[in-house]
Amino acid sequence: MSALLTVARSRDDLAAARARLPGRVAVVMTMGALHEGHAELVRQARRLADSVVVTVFVNPLQFAAGEDLDRYPRTFDADLQLAGGSGADLVFVPTPDVVYPQSPLVRVSAGPVGERLEGASRPGHFDGVLTVVLKLLHLVAPDVALFGEKDAQQLACIRRMVRDLDLAVDVVGVPTVREPDGLALSSRNRYLSPQQRRSATALSRALQAVARTGDLAAGRAMLDAEPGVVTDYLERVDPDTFTPDDDGALVVVAARVGSTRLIDNTTLLGEA
Ligand code: PAJ
Repeated sequence: MSALLTVARSRDDLAAARARLPGRVAVVMTMGALHEGHAELVRQARRLADSVVVTVFVNPLQFAAGEDLDRYPRTFDADLQLAGGSGADLVFVPTPDVVYPQSPLVRVSAGPVGERLEGASRPGHFDGVLTVVLKLLHLVAPDVALFGEKDAQQLACIRRMVRDLDLAVDVVGVPTVREPDGLALSSRNRYLSPQQRRSATALSRALQAVARTGDLAAGRAMLDAEPGVVTDYLERVDPDTFTPDDDGALVVVAARVGSTRLIDNTTLLGEA
C-alpha cells in the first residue's frame, strides 16, 4: 500500500483531505470487496487526473428487502491494499450514519431508464444508486468520475442524471474486466460454488453468441441449457435508454446462478 494513502471516515476528515489534493481530482465509487475491475477503474483514474479518491460504501438505499445487503462481502483491509496499490490517494469509508445522518426523504428518481430491465427486477434500485452517487459527488467534488461498463444501465442512469441535473463532472465509462474464461469480474462472484462458477460462464458465452449472430433465441437457448442458471432477461437494447429493441446495439443479460444474481452486457460486433 502507498505510504501516502489517506483514509477518511467522517465528512470533516474527507473535506480536510480533499482540500489538500492537488490538481484535477477523479473519483471511483465502490461498495468495496474490490477486485481487478475496480483496480482498472483506479488505474484509469490515475491516468486522467492528478489525484484519485476511492469511496467504499455499501449503500443500503440501493438494496431491496431480501437482497444481499447483510451478507455483501466486506474486505476492508484488502480493499485498502488494492486501492492504494492501484494509485488511490484518498479512500473515503463512511458508515451509513455518516452518509445518511437522517433517513432521506428526498431521493433522486432515475426515471424511465431506471425502471426497465434491472430496474424492473429491482424496483427502487437505481433511485438508491443515483441518490448516493449524487451525494458522493457533492462530498468529494471531483472533476471526473469513472464507472464500469459492466453495470451499463447504472452508467446510463448516471450519465442521464449528470445531463438532466447540470452536474459539473465528466463521466467516463471503463470497459468490463473479465476472467480468462469470459466471466465478468464481480464482487458477487465470490458467492459461487466451483460448479456454479463454471455455469456462470454461460452469461458471457450467450452474450458473445448474440453479439456474433444477433440471434437472441440462440443466446437464450444457451442459458437455458446450463444447469443451475435461471435467466431473468437477455435482450438487445438501445444503449442510452435501455428500451428493448431487436436492432439495439447493446446486449444485456441477467441470470441467477443458484441464489446469486449476475449481470453482464456486450456491444454488438460492428456497432458503436
Ligand atoms: P460496485 O459494484 O462496487 O462497483 C463499483 C464500480 O466498479 C462500478 O462503476 C462498476 O461498474 C465497476 N465495476 C464492477 N465490476 C467491474 C468489472 N468487471 N469491470 C469494470 N468495472 C467494473 O456499482 C456500484 O458498486 C455501486 O452501485 C455504486 C456506483 C458504488 C453506488 O453505490
